[in-house]
Amino acid sequence: MKVLVVGSGGREHAIVWKLSQSRHVDKIYCCPGNAGIAEIAECIDVRQDDFDALLDFVKYEWIDMTIVGPEDPLSKGIVDLFEKEGRRILGPTKAAVQLESSKVFSKDLMRSHGIQTADYKVFTSYLHAEEHVKMKGTPIVIKADGLAAGKGVFVATTMTEAMDALKVIMKDKAFGDAGNRVLIEDCLQGEEASFMVFTDGKSIIPMVSSQDHKRIGDGDKGLNTGGMGAYSPAPVVTPELEKLVIEKVMKPTIRALSSQGITYKGVLYAGLMIDGNGTPNVLEFNCRLGDPETQPILARLDTDFMEIAMAIADERLAEIEVVWKDDPAVCIVVSSEGYPGTYRKGDVITGISAANQIEGVHVFHAGTAFRENQIVTSGGRVLGITATGSTIAAARDKAYEAVGKIHFDGMHYRKDIASRALNRRTD
Ligand code: AMP
Ligand code: GLY
Repeated sequence: MKVLVVGSGGREHAIVWKLSQSRHVDKIYCCPGNAGIAEIAECIDVRQDDFDALLDFVKYEWIDMTIVGPEDPLSKGIVDLFEKEGRRILGPTKAAVQLESSKVFSKDLMRSHGIQTADYKVFTSYLHAEEHVKMKGTPIVIKADGLAAGKGVFVATTMTEAMDALKVIMKDKAFGDAGNRVLIEDCLQGEEASFMVFTDGKSIIPMVSSQDHKRIGDGDKGLNTGGMGAYSPAPVVTPELEKLVIEKVMKPTIRALSSQGITYKGVLYAGLMIDGNGTPNVLEFNCRLGDPETQPILARLDTDFMEIAMAIADERLAEIEVVWKDDPAVCIVVSSEGYPGTYRKGDVITGISAANQIEGVHVFHAGTAFRENQIVTSGGRVLGITATGSTIAAARDKAYEAVGKIHFDGMHYRKDIASRALNRRTD
């Protein structure tokens, strides 16, 4: 079979890498891809948001399956178009993606269906938002309603930070129309975990748990990013908690959408805050695989990914079994100087082959490109160095050993990936 993967990040490299091991897949195309993806797939020169051109390509090349990585094409309706044309595609429809593309839609759905989440209020007026923040005090969480590449959320611990966040979203319009509405939420305490499931709208198959590190700096300091590293499993997600998340979060959400006539097919991702009583509160939903969580998760997947994708698209997920490897995995993201703000580009990257030679290590590319036979940086998050090992500590040590082989000017990475899991284990 032929498959097309849409996207260019570390998540898409991990998807393409996993598909390259599938006994069903003969040929992989990727749009637009990156320098690492280009080693195992044919990268095509079509714009990711030019759905008509993508559809023409799929028809012309007789592609059997399209797999969409990022939220942007999903939120713009790529699945609706491909399904209308009778093409197999993995991902939810535009209506379903509102769970991610509008935080107001998602919070309202949770509130009306009793899914536990932080209390919130929605504002379109800067003055009213400001008044509300002054009345509530800090800490407080301020979020742009729409998509903002993981950067539209501000956890404000001081009044100055809170006011700055309101200004950035509502006055400076840093996220454009995504900031037309803001949510002001109670600040929850606890431990975070990511939980993802495969679903065809009828049944659910959970993935192994994971946890990412959103802040740019060690000790969870600094700005939120798309994610600076991840590990799987997340020890905070016990089997009991997993059951609770499936029964109290995943199933009710899919049912709630179904009651609005929306069939949810693809991957549903819940960002959770587990409070001191072990109750999972939903921080956000994503309608796709997480990045960088996908890198350690797919490193642990034993089942043929193409079989899962086909089963979801054909709505027969209940017929298959998904098997995971026991060994944990850790992914460390290396980023360009300046990220998540304006970052450097075009720096030559060395050491990728040496890192890949370490047993159990895979260097997934994100913002990389070719320039005159060299691999150079071309994005904020550059590589996701992922390792499996017999324990989280062993996987982490191997991943850091591999990071030590990599070099580019302005390279940044966190030194404390997975430390929360390790501290917890030795509690
Ligand atoms: P989100 O994109 O909504 O998941 O938010 C990004 C990050 O902001 C989360 O991973 C949390 O670290 C933090 N966050 C979001 N909402 C809250 C909240 N209500 N209370 C505390 N932290 C939050
Ligand atoms: N790592 C968080 C996300 O993919 O949204």
